[in-house]
Order: sequence, then structure tokens, then C-alpha cells
Amino acid sequence: MEAIGIALVGAGAFGEFCLRAFDAMPEIRIQAVCDVDAARAEAMAHQYHAQAYTDLATLLHDPSVQIVALNTPPHLHAEQGLAVLKAGKHLVCEKPLALTCADAEALIETAAANHVLLTVDYVMRYNPFWQAAADLSHSGVLGQLRHMDLSNHAAGLSLPANHWFWDKTKSGGIWIEHGVHFFDAFTWVAGERGEILASSSYRRPDGATDRVEALAQFGTTAAHFYHGFDQSGQTEQTTVRLTFEKGYVTLREWVPTSIEIVTTLSAGHITPYLHGEIETSPYHNNRTLIRAYAPQGKSAVYQQSIQAAMLALVRSIQTGQVLPVSGQQGLDSLALAVAAENE
Ligand SMILES: NC(=O)c1ccc[n+]([C@@H]2O[C@H](COP(=O)([O-])OP(=O)(O)OC[C@H]3O[C@@H](n4cnc5c(N)ncnc54)[C@H](O)[C@@H]3O)[C@@H](O)[C@H]2O)c1
Repeated sequence: MEAIGIALVGAGAFGEFCLRAFDAMPEIRIQAVCDVDAARAEAMAHQYHAQAYTDLATLLHDPSVQIVALNTPPHLHAEQGLAVLKAGKHLVCEKPLALTCADAEALIETAAANHVLLTVDYVMRYNPFWQAAADLSHSGVLGQLRHMDLSNHAAGLSLPANHWFWDKTKSGGIWIEHGVHFFDAFTWVAGERGEILASSSYRRPDGATDRVEALAQFGTTAAHFYHGFDQSGQTEQTTVRLTFEKGYVTLREWVPTSIEIVTTLSAGHITPYLHGEIETSPYHNNRTLIRAYAPQGKSAVYQQSIQAAMLALVRSIQTGQVLPVSGQQGLDSLALAVAAENE
């Protein structure tokens, strides 16, 4: 089948990473790069033999573009996303889908009205270790899922004080800009809608909120979320712990490259759900430690997740295959983030 034309809007730090991932995909062709920073748009477009634009409205007249990957800062997603959908182009919106639920609903309705597809770039949905965690949970092999815990110690120190991330009018704050990933992932793993029970936040001396915490429940599963954007690139660390009746599952790093399961079951019950290299070893109290990991490392796993998300959209356009992440999931996770922000 002919490659589908794609445009990147917002050629910033993550946009550049996405372009590298898209360029390696035969199913799509990078046709255009748009950024208000003309030099950046030109440089990126030149690198990928694409057309440079500094204005979204002009780009949307380009008939060679069928998919727009929207990688601008969050406060622009609603307005720009609506323009993309109204122009009859499919939209891969970077998270968050919007800053408000009303805007997210408008995006979903506009996609439907214009018969185009809308997805949110929730990379964890395409990460093989999150996939294993979800499959283990849904299979019931480890029994009831009782508790989910996130400790996300992120490299906020590498974001300058004037970065849009610290300005809630632009980012929506930590829950909306970043927490949505984990609200969506926990909803997926639990197979239940979530509810925020309590939340709190902590400010730095300059007034910026750099740490947030929440208690939640997903059906009968208890959950705890902590995000601290107060670490450096060298000290950042993320751990997700899932507690089941018959075992403990740990995902390490915010783009996981491994999964560990400690269980009373034999390894043969667990390994069919795992991807990557697998090793098992005895653990105390007659339990077994099973570890699966990606020897290729974080950058490759991250890139493959971005490609898998794009491929899912391409397949959906070509065959009508159901999208793993629809606008509704973008809205549901955003609703939890808004609740955590306002609790
Ligand atoms: N899914 C993920 O894993 C992931 C990871 C990182 C970032 N993100 C998301 O990607 C988005 C971008 O983040 P980033 O870190 O690359 O930000 P960034 O600030 O590095 O890049 C944003 C780019 O958008 C451009 N821009 C601003 N206004 C514009 C406009 N009106 N039209 C066109 N371009 C415009 C800027 O010039 C800049 O180049 C955010 O929504 C962020 O949450 C997602």
C-alpha cells in the first residue's frame, strides 16, 4: 500500500525524537514539518526532505498530508487539534489531549463529525512491559489485583524555570501534562474506571508546583500516585508496583525496559505473557523471581512504542481496525488528572 503522508506540528525536543521514529516506518512518509520557529521548521524539514511551514492553517491546505502529529505545548492542543480535524486530517495528539474536559469532548465530537481518526500518544499502551503487566492482570493468572503504586521521581531540574512546563496555563500542571500517562495505564491494567479520593501538592520556593500525590481507586483496586519533578537526569527514577493476590509485579523506569514478577506460581504460568529476554531465579520463601527485559535499552523501546502507536493509526485508517487509544481514553485520563488537580 502507498505510504500515508504525515506532518509534524511542533518540532521541539519530543517532535525531533518522533520524526526519527516516523522516518524509519515504510507505512508513512514525512511530508511536512511545521513550527513557529522558522529556522527549526526549515532544519527539520530539510533533514527529512519535507516541506517546511510556520503556520498550521497553511499546512492544512497541503493535500499530501493525511495525518498530523501534534507535538506543540499542551495549551495549543485543543485549538490546533480542532483545526486539524476540521481540515479532514487524522490526528495523533501528544498528551494531554487538552487542558479541559470540555475541550477534549469537542475534539472527540469534531473527529466523529468529520469522519477522521483521533488518537493520543500514550506510549505506555505500546510498551511491551506495560503490555505484559496488563495481560497478566486481565488473564487473572496472579489472582486479584489489590494495589497499584507509582513513584515517579522525574528530571524536573533539567527544565529551566521559564519552561512552559512550570506554567499551569500552558501545561495544565503535573497531573494534566504528565500524570495522564499513568492514569490511563492504571485504568488499562485494572480494567476499571478510576476515581480520585484525595490529592496534595508541594511548591518550590519560587512558587512552582514540583511534587504532587494522590490516592485513587479503580474498582476494588487501591492506587497511589506520586510525581516529583525535583530530580536530575542522573538521579531520576520511576517504579510501578502492582500487588496481586499471588505475586508482585514491578516495572522500572518511566519508559519501562523490564518487568519483574515475584510469585508463588511456577515460572511456566507467567512466561507466556512476557516479551524480551527472560530469566528466572529462586526467591526467598519458596517463591520465584521472573524477569523479562529489553537488551536494546530505553531509547529503542521508546522509539518502537511511538512507531507502534503510529502503525495502529495507519491500520485503523486502512482497515478500520479499532484504535487501542481513542479520544475517549484521552478524555477519561484527563478527567482523572483534572480531578487530582482540583481535589
Ligand atoms: N508521549 C510522550 O512520551 C511525550 C514525551 C515528551 C513530550 N510529550 C509531549 O509533547 C509535546 C511537546 O513537548 P516538547 O517537550 O517537545 O516541547 P518543546 O517546547 O520542546 O517543543 C514544542 C515546539 O512547538 C513549537 N510551537 C510552539 N507554538 C507553536 C505553534 N503555534 N505552531 C507550531 N509550533 C509551535 C515550539 O517552537 C517548539 O519547537 C507536549 O504536549 C508534551 O507533553 C510527550
